[in-house]
Amino acid sequence: MPIGWSVLISKQNRSNGNERSNKTKNGNTDITEANGKGSNPKNRKRKAPQAENEDNDDDTKNDGSKSSGKRERTKNHESSNLSRKDKKEKTKHADNQNGISTAQNSVEIQKKHSAAADGDLRSKLVERLKGSRFRFINEQLYKTTGEEAKKLFQEDPDSFTAYHEGYRHQIAQWSMNPLDRMIKSIKKLPKDTIVADFGCGEARLAQSIPNQTYSLDLVSHNSSVIACDMANTPLESNYVNVVVFCLSLMGTNLLDFILEANRVLKVGGLLKIAEVSSRFDNVNEFVANVKKCGFTLVNKDTKHKLFYFINFKKERTLNKKESSSL
Ligand SMILES: C[S@@+](CC[C@H](N)C(=O)[O-])C[C@H]1O[C@@H](n2cnc3c(N)ncnc32)[C@H](O)[C@@H]1O
Repeated sequence: MPIGWSVLISKQNRSNGNERSNKTKNGNTDITEANGKGSNPKNRKRKAPQAENEDNDDDTKNDGSKSSGKRERTKNHESSNLSRKDKKEKTKHADNQNGISTAQNSVEIQKKHSAAADGDLRSKLVERLKGSRFRFINEQLYKTTGEEAKKLFQEDPDSFTAYHEGYRHQIAQWSMNPLDRMIKSIKKLPKDTIVADFGCGEARLAQSIPNQTYSLDLVSHNSSVIACDMANTPLESNYVNVVVFCLSLMGTNLLDFILEANRVLKVGGLLKIAEVSSRFDNVNEFVANVKKCGFTLVNKDTKHKLFYFINFKKERTLNKKESSSL
């Protein structure tokens, strides 16, 4: 790899695809089984008829006790006994009924709880799957050239949307979105500053600044985005005042992206880079490499624990011979 661009090769390629897919497989099986049990109406109905039959049996016993005087007295005695017994039985029965209904209630409550837990588990698994898909695509973007990544998105058009859904989720975990800082700093520049957003994603930069902005990405998220590999854009040479790479220096051919930025920028134009700090083995080496592409360092902010912000100024346009010798 030329002039040590490997310094920016991702250290984030650490996901274990096999382990994740096994977990997902097991998780899905659990959900299917749990849903089947939790929603079986047969289990619920079986108890209720039992309770009704117990009531009917008691009525039959009372009707079958009419006969002679002795038997009447006996009956009365028995009856009073019975009525006491009956009361006891009734109380017992009522207790039983309470017991049944309490048990039924607790079964119902348990079912509701388990349904809610199933729902939680399902959404957790869906989130995990989405997260895995995001990490997988992210990894592909780091491991391939821009041209290969473009083909990847072309072959699976949904993956760009899935990637950006995952990316939005990822941003929500961060204490700051580096794009906000880009927006803030570009808003301070004159309104006639022409901006090119290399790897614009959903093109929020263009929507947030008043400047003429060319939004470029592998996929055209909306009609304002130019779909291209940023190593080879359709922009004119020496045309824009600012090139932005906000977490978009992906791909194995970083040198091509920086050289393209050199080509489209006017002399004196700004190259603004925000990148995940953990991707740099040696930020000074990276700066030295960018300088070789016709830039001077304006400033670098490496204070933030997650992101580095580095600004360069275009000093001169590199000719083809110089570019190819790098
Ligand atoms: C992490 S996202 C950042 C998006 C946007 N800059 C932001 O800050 O919201 C990186 C973006 O760079 C794009 N990208 C990566 N390699 C590219 C290439 N070679 N050409 C054009 N876009 C590229 C990806 O498609 C993705 O949309």
